[in-house]
Amino acid sequence: MDKKLRKAVIAGNWKMNKTPEQTEALINGIKPLVASAECDVIVCVPFVCLDAALKAAEGSNIKVGAQNCHWAKSGAFTGEISADMLASMGVPYVITGHSERRTYFGDTDVTVKNRTRAALDAGLTVILCVGEHLEQREQGTTFEVVRAQVKIALGEVSEQELERIIIAYEPVWAIGTGKTATAAQANEVNKAIRELIGELYSKASADKTVIQYGGSMNGANAAELLAQYDVDGGLIGGASLKAAEFASIVTAASK
Ligand code: 13P
Repeated sequence: MDKKLRKAVIAGNWKMNKTPEQTEALINGIKPLVASAECDVIVCVPFVCLDAALKAAEGSNIKVGAQNCHWAKSGAFTGEISADMLASMGVPYVITGHSERRTYFGDTDVTVKNRTRAALDAGLTVILCVGEHLEQREQGTTFEVVRAQVKIALGEVSEQELERIIIAYEPVWAIGTGKTATAAQANEVNKAIRELIGELYSKASADKTVIQYGGSMNGANAAELLAQYDVDGGLIGGASLKAAEFASIVTAASK
């Protein structure tokens, strides 16, 4: 990444892991290991762990995020959580568009756009996830797929609001599979996303936008991925559940 233009962001996505008690323990484990980080550090925890996470992270450089939010302010949406609810708790970040939400819970480019819009309206910063499936990569449509996902999700986002958007490129075939994209593959898609931001907004905004890579990033491969010009951080699943390994990725991003 270009440290003169952007600050790296390392975010853990804990997915459906950890109880509130375990959340407190893991954050207490991570805290001393990342205290001198020169990148932003975020943990995105299950809804029921947000309160414990906020308390455990208080006074530290660890920020807390949720993993999804609904697009309506309130209403008859059993089982959903609104962006306003997150904001009222003091949660600053939320993930939208994760491929697991798209695959298992029917999220589409349009609902991702709506969730992103609601999160911005509530004052949150969004980690917007995009990425192609294996068949799409094999068919050579990766760039079209990812460009469309980004373009639709940002359809109602102003240039000023873009400062509260982090984009996470997560190739679906690399998530939880141990099969990481090569550093070159990650960089070329991130670069294409940055070029699209330049087309949609401006070169200045494209230069400022943080674009992460996610998909089997771990302590062993983080340094090479993060050394790429257009890879500005990581969205980490499995490896974010172990304090020392997550911290080693934060250390790699701080160099
Ligand atoms: P893994 O790091 O477990 O592959 O998960 C990546 C991810 O989906 C982060 O959002």
